[in-house]
Amino acid sequence: MEIINHKVSLGNISSESLVGKYGSPLFVYEPEQIISRYQKFKNAIKYPHTQIYYACKANSNISIMKLLKKEGCYIDAVSTGEIYTALKAGFSSFNILYTGDNITDDEMFYCVDKNIRINIGSLSLLERYGNRFRGTDVTVRINPNIGSGHHSHCITGGPESKFGIYIHDIDELKKIASNYRLRIRGIHSHIGSGILDIPLYLEAMGIILDCASQFEEVNFVDIGGGLGVPYHHKEEPIDIEILGENITKKFQNFADKRDEKITLALEPGRFLVAEAGFLLTKVVSIKKTPKYKFLGVDSGFNHLPRPFIYGSYHRILNASRPEAEPEEIVVSGNICESGDIFTQGKEGIETRYIPKAREGDILCICNAGAYGYSMSSNYNNRPRPAEVFAENGKDKLIRKRETFEDLISNQVY
Ligand SMILES: Cc1ncc(COP(=O)(O)O)c(C=O)c1O
Repeated sequence: MEIINHKVSLGNISSESLVGKYGSPLFVYEPEQIISRYQKFKNAIKYPHTQIYYACKANSNISIMKLLKKEGCYIDAVSTGEIYTALKAGFSSFNILYTGDNITDDEMFYCVDKNIRINIGSLSLLERYGNRFRGTDVTVRINPNIGSGHHSHCITGGPESKFGIYIHDIDELKKIASNYRLRIRGIHSHIGSGILDIPLYLEAMGIILDCASQFEEVNFVDIGGGLGVPYHHKEEPIDIEILGENITKKFQNFADKRDEKITLALEPGRFLVAEAGFLLTKVVSIKKTPKYKFLGVDSGFNHLPRPFIYGSYHRILNASRPEAEPEEIVVSGNICESGDIFTQGKEGIETRYIPKAREGDILCICNAGAYGYSMSSNYNNRPRPAEVFAENGKDKLIRKRETFEDLISNQVY
């Protein structure tokens, strides 16, 4: 994103011309940013047997998955629908990890049938898996008794979390594995999403490595994803080189004590795609109440739910007039709920200063590449936006805008 000729441009194309071509609202991604993020991440970790699994729940557009596949990335899937999409994107089943929650028999059979590594996150599931697939290899998700994340809904470690086999239950885990002659080949953990607290991330990694050292047959350790990006100017980006050095050192120490070659896996989602994505939306109404001046736009929490569900901050630019005098406003969506506010904070509605907008101006909502489209819905029976790539002055449609027909296509009437 840059300001060129007094307009916000994405991939060297003005936001206004992208909207002119594809309509509003519109998701725009800069693929170069995704690739450079991936390369930076990969290069920061020097341990030779490292695999990066893209957590495609962040954004499961096939074109984005293909970009990452070309770079040598693997896939972390949390549903069989994500596995299906990854296979469509060309990933081999050996390069997919399935970390579903509450895995059904159908899902187990689907993965085993396709040779997809399955990651089991509860003792009862391990028992069921053992019953069905006695004498096989399996990976287990461990809850290391530590969690972190940008919101309580996104903390996936610690005593309040529903995820993983609790670290205190390792003896029970071993008993079940031995009853069914299961080989524990992988140890996995993911403590939360949107983590900027690196010492805590490394502490959890230490616990997981200690846990892995209790299993002789482990040849795969996945320390999860969850690395955050700065949404607010007050947040600092992670120093990925320093993090990479720390991870490498810690893992190499662990690996040096093992006889077998051991793989280190990480599964970033947001870190790879969040900052490469933007939601463009048109101002269609401006109104004042005794408290606020509202800029009403043609999108809402049906397209980018993060402010609504987490009170998450997203930087908002006036793409049509980025250099105009700022004014204090609230940006409201078009969904029939009063919480449909793009400037929603953790404690309720917040105001922002953005360059004074007129009806018809395009707003650019930043950091919309992760958990935007993938969390979108058809609430209020509104079609989802199109998605495009914009790079070096060229644009490419990667998903069509939905139509009214799409909205009712599965209904039987
Ligand atoms: C198992 C697992 N791995 C990886 C991720 C990716 O998280 P993030 O996008 O924050 O990196 C998640 C997110 O919830 C997850 O549940």
